[in-house]
Amino acid sequence: MGNLTYKGVRDFYPEDERIKRYIFDVLEKTVELYGYEPYNASVLEPTELYASKTSEEIVNEQTYTFTDRGGRSVTLRPEMTPTVARMVSSKRRELGFPLRWYSIQNFFRYEKPQRGRLREFWQLNVDLFGATDTAADAEIVEIAYRVLRAFGATEEMFTIKIADRNLLETAFDASGMTVEQKRAYRKVLDKKNKMSEDEFEKEVRAITENDPLLLIQKRDISIEQALGETETLLNRLNARGIHNVEFDPSIVRGFDYYTGMVFEIFDTSEENNRALFGGGRYDYLVKEYGGEDVPAVGFGMGDVTVRDFLETHTLLPNARATTDLYLAPATPEDVEKASGTAQFLRNAGLQVALGLKHKKISDHIKAAEKLAIPFFAVYGAKEEESGMISIRTIKTKEETTVPLEGVARIIEAL
Ligand code: HAM
Repeated sequence: MGNLTYKGVRDFYPEDERIKRYIFDVLEKTVELYGYEPYNASVLEPTELYASKTSEEIVNEQTYTFTDRGGRSVTLRPEMTPTVARMVSSKRRELGFPLRWYSIQNFFRYEKPQRGRLREFWQLNVDLFGATDTAADAEIVEIAYRVLRAFGATEEMFTIKIADRNLLETAFDASGMTVEQKRAYRKVLDKKNKMSEDEFEKEVRAITENDPLLLIQKRDISIEQALGETETLLNRLNARGIHNVEFDPSIVRGFDYYTGMVFEIFDTSEENNRALFGGGRYDYLVKEYGGEDVPAVGFGMGDVTVRDFLETHTLLPNARATTDLYLAPATPEDVEKASGTAQFLRNAGLQVALGLKHKKISDHIKAAEKLAIPFFAVYGAKEEESGMISIRTIKTKEETTVPLEGVARIIEAL
């Protein structure tokens, strides 16, 4: 039989699923602290949802699109923003604003699988609808920052880079670029952090003599207003105790819907050069799906890059099985007895796996170890008679003997 795995999509064996769940848990707790409510949607969308609204590169080169049995064109969602904008648009009269929503879902993009980029990834999306103030922009960036801090990251481990779409557009106009030149320039900028300075300059010179980035650095008068807003945002973030944030006009973001502030977060460690987070303000997308303007700002953060980040900085806690206790029958004849006790312990709140396959106690212990179950106990005639049970901590091999009623309490304390 050939290789029955599709390249770039994900199998989560329990040890990966454990890490994923740990990560999602931290994400959920952090964003819920800010008053964000979970929502959800299907992975299938009509292809028109994306037409001329998101990113040409994604729509033309990276979507998985097919015709269903009724002849409709269907796309596996490559991102959440069009979906959530459509959802908000169609219920905008009933919804309360400012609306704070989040989701953690999987997405599909036909990319070349490589470190930090796969064809299926999970993404946390956090979006705030109905507020135009820089305080809303600041909240979104702050949440992204808090998410990484909640994993135990220090400010030295990552950098937040902020820019403004208007800034680049104004600089484009000031430098007199054509639509074609602008498009080519944005493409080069989007790849900037994967090139050397020299390569970048060479590619820019091939497009224009009048580098708009230099205009921004020179603080040309026509861009003062957009710069002012970025400064207000940076000041707000500093006042909120966030210092690893900087203005970087080369942040462009590949999507058409952004209208103001845009940002990305990078690992300071060289080996992970892909963005961990990307987001920004998109004030007109909701309206494109019907009704009036609903300004919005938000971000997406992927599970692949965040796991690389946590591993690189050794921030991942030791993963253990969700199962607390492996309960082995003392002899194969004791299975039913042990099963009753397992049920008693489950009722007391423990996650208990019953030993089945092995005869020898030492084989049961080995199995528990391999399954990453932290505690082990044997149950048979002796335990039934005495009402006492010995709890072994697999890692240290230490044993504590306690009455059956005390097992849950002991395990929680160990
Ligand atoms: P994005 O920059 O395409 O933005 O994706 C955001 C994050 O998702 C990236 O920084 C990365 O962590 C992860 N990601 C994207 N593509 C892949 C991939 N192929 N493999 C692994 N991870 C990936 C958006 O998707 C916007 N819709 C975000 C947004 C929400 N803007 C406003 N609200």
